[in-house]
Amino acid sequence: MARFIEFTGGDVEAYLQSQEKKDLLRFITCGSVDDGKSTLIGRLLYEAKMLFEDQLTALEADSKKMGTQGGNLDFALLVDGLAAEREQGITIDVAYRAFTTDKRKFIVADTPGHEQYTRNMATGASTADLAIILIDARKGVLTQTRRHTFICTLLGIRHLVVAVNKMDLMDYRQDVFARVDEDYRSFARSLGATDITVIPISALAGDNVIARSANMAWYHGSTLMAHLETVPVGDTLDSQPFRLPVQWVNRPDQNFRGFSGTVVSGSVKPGDPITVMPSARTSTVARVVTYDGELPEGVAGQSLTVTLADEIDVSRGDVLCAGGDPVEVSDQFEVEILWMGDEPMLPGRSYVIKAGAATVPGSLEELKYKVNVNTMEHVAAKSLALNEIGVCNLELDRAIAFAPYAENRHLGSFIVIDRFFNTTVGMGLMRFALRRAANIHWQAVDVHKAARARLAGQKPAVLWFTGLSGAGKSTIANLVEKKLHALGHMTYLLDGDNIRHGLNRDLGFTDADRVENIRRVAEVSRLMVDAGLIVLVSFISPFRSERLMAREMLDPGEFIEVFVDTSLAEAEKRDVKGLYAKARRGEIMHFTGISSPYEKPENPEIRIDTVSLPSEAAAEGIVAYLAEKGRLSKA
Ligand code: ADX
Repeated sequence: MARFIEFTGGDVEAYLQSQEKKDLLRFITCGSVDDGKSTLIGRLLYEAKMLFEDQLTALEADSKKMGTQGGNLDFALLVDGLAAEREQGITIDVAYRAFTTDKRKFIVADTPGHEQYTRNMATGASTADLAIILIDARKGVLTQTRRHTFICTLLGIRHLVVAVNKMDLMDYRQDVFARVDEDYRSFARSLGATDITVIPISALAGDNVIARSANMAWYHGSTLMAHLETVPVGDTLDSQPFRLPVQWVNRPDQNFRGFSGTVVSGSVKPGDPITVMPSARTSTVARVVTYDGELPEGVAGQSLTVTLADEIDVSRGDVLCAGGDPVEVSDQFEVEILWMGDEPMLPGRSYVIKAGAATVPGSLEELKYKVNVNTMEHVAAKSLALNEIGVCNLELDRAIAFAPYAENRHLGSFIVIDRFFNTTVGMGLMRFALRRAANIHWQAVDVHKAARARLAGQKPAVLWFTGLSGAGKSTIANLVEKKLHALGHMTYLLDGDNIRHGLNRDLGFTDADRVENIRRVAEVSRLMVDAGLIVLVSFISPFRSERLMAREMLDPGEFIEVFVDTSLAEAEKRDVKGLYAKARRGEIMHFTGISSPYEKPENPEIRIDTVSLPSEAAAEGIVAYLAEKGRLSKA
């Protein structure tokens, strides 16, 4: 019989320390309230008063603030994984509860089971050794069961336990259980899951949860608790090479410079040789320090600070590795993505990627396929919607140190953050690095931008005209180009309608196509700036993210956003091309302002109110702006 220890929040640390000798099983429960999940957890904790609830997250935040934390394995194990997501301030509804029996300590991550909450589930799963997947005996294997199982295997949870619940409502029938058992196993095996245990239970009546059920004499396997107490949890992380992603550089004074973070695998002690990635610089460990003082050795799961014998450059996001056994470095990967955003994933869009301790802008490229979780079929798709899973390439703006997820869960996973709303919109696993970029070197050329611009007698720039269709972007851009030309400047006008006849003729007006449309134009305008030209870009360019991407491709001062501000009513009244009328009649889909969004610039360099300002005056103003900023004189 399990013995639970009563516990209250404040003493958790002392308690867990005293329990350190026992091993710890971290598990997650997947299923919905209807499946009886709360009842099951309640039943597991029944004789215990819960140790603490929803508190580990807060504790973890505290220990983070302190930076290093006294030799407590258990907390640190909860800290990493998707801690970055919690740092983002996203409310993730994961309640961690801890309890103990004579044999083992347990931390269970309880997550809401509703379809929309897959992201919570994935967060809980990223640190778990075992998953309990609840199935209602009356309903059998559902889409949600498959989705949860898939996420668990994706995240590398080795032990799957299926609790076939509500057996009491099916008269404890063996044939009912056998059918669910068979259905589930054939599905899970197709995912490559090997350790699957299926147990018939009634969480409400208590059958086979802790005590063996007299109602199901035909079942000879373990009870759920017996299984949880005995499933092997040999932590392979200890035996792997040392890796410590640097969360922050700890420099309280001139004399101390340490690198803090959680050891994600292996161990470290003074005198060990170290290779720092991505720089590949080497040194030797001087000291291993925690909040409580110096340690003779630090092991996987501990949060600690390492000082090195040499003054070498190490920054946040770097990974300290066992000397001579470094992790890989790359800026391109094949990844599996679980999309969590309400808005669909947009290939080519620039997101913030947090991987290990590194934070880097990057983009997800065209999807190779998405996965139908019911059949595990690969389905062709352009984008991922909420809760969908797919495979694509990830391209980062700079190379980072990483390990494939299969090797190290902590160094091979990442989250995707929307740059404007600062929300987590996806999580992903790195399968492997792509070597392409490493083999294509940037060709250095001797005649450079400044030299070309000098010859042209100007400082190159992009005038980026954005606004609704019919706002007057092209009219004004055209006038500006004429004036610049007359002044002897070298210019080029890239116009949406024209480029869509050639370079971008394969693109339509879905969000994904517009992202790609702007990405290409941004690249072309960057090349033209490099050629020394003043480039005029006239595209609706409705999304802030892509305009920001275009801005970031250029040097400071080179990108000049010109917001041609015309109200929808006004543009529609003018309707020069008759497109608004067609859009209203439903003859044109995804029309900007009507059936597709336009995100206004927040801080454009120039804003033109086309109602009060005639085009000619607007064009003069823009040329005056360029002159004032010194762009019309020699570089
Ligand atoms: S963008 O949104 O991807 O930047 P772009 O500037 O290239 O658009 O093209 C806009 C032009 O395409 C409009 O001026 C209009 O003439 C034409 N057009 C055709 N269909 C649409 C549509 N659904 N939405 C907006 N513009 C459209």
